[in-house]
Amino acid sequence: MFRLLILFIVQSAVLNTADGHVMSTPLRCNWNKDDLSDMEFIESYIFNKINYMEFNSTLGKVVGYTKLGISNADRLNKDTAALQARKAQAEAACKNNVEGYYSVVLSKTVEPQVEVMQVKKPDGSHPAVLMCSAYSFYPPLIKVTWLRNGKEVKGGQTSTEEMADGDWYYQIHSHLEYTPESGEEISCVVEHASFKKPMSYKWDPSMSEPDKSKIAIGASGLVLGVVLSAAGFIYYRKKSSGRILVPT
Ligand SMILES: *[C@@H]1O[C@H](CO)[C@@H](O)[C@H](O)[C@H]1NC(C)=O
Repeated sequence: MFRLLILFIVQSAVLNTADGHVMSTPLRCNWNKDDLSDMEFIESYIFNKINYMEFNSTLGKVVGYTKLGISNADRLNKDTAALQARKAQAEAACKNNVEGYYSVVLSKTVEPQVEVMQVKKPDGSHPAVLMCSAYSFYPPLIKVTWLRNGKEVKGGQTSTEEMADGDWYYQIHSHLEYTPESGEEISCVVEHASFKKPMSYKWDPSMSEPDKSKIAIGASGLVLGVVLSAAGFIYYRKKSSGRILVPT
């Protein structure tokens, strides 16, 4: 996985009118290896959206992209001590920040919350559609597959990309289009770094959630009715037997 960290160090921004000028010098840190040994630093000089010059740590020099950038680069590249200092500064900023990200985020895994539901009931000639959703996981690398009677389903499934929630967590949704058959068993299998083994989630076609809550409400009503009738009956019996016991 290619990692990228951008540190925005805005040196000066003159924005006192709507058509003011903006100068920004973002520092990018690119690396692949977890020990950060291959880290490259790119410091860009951008004036009013024009990237006119860049310091590239792999080259160890400044590269100009416009006439002004080229003449500035020629001047800056003559000062080797300043170039060394620039590289050291970029390295310090990148490594410090990235080490922090490794300890609090990149080295951690967070288990997905998985749900399997029917999004389209079968009707006539149209197949049914199931959706398997995995929420709030990290890192983004994940694999979602479907099993039908224990065998991997080939075809009929489509999946979204891993979508960023914007808070380091990701979600993904996989759809399976199929024609239901009685007695079959369908499950969604999720493989993720936070799991020791692939996890399987069975689709329970017996009842959907709204049906379950309707039954629960009906059952509660019935229980309440029975309790109230019994209480009324006991009260009635006590009253009438009390009347008999009272001597006249
Ligand atoms: C930095 O320079 C190296 C060596 O020429 C090059 O391979 C790399 O692509 C450059 N990086 C960027 C972001 O331009």
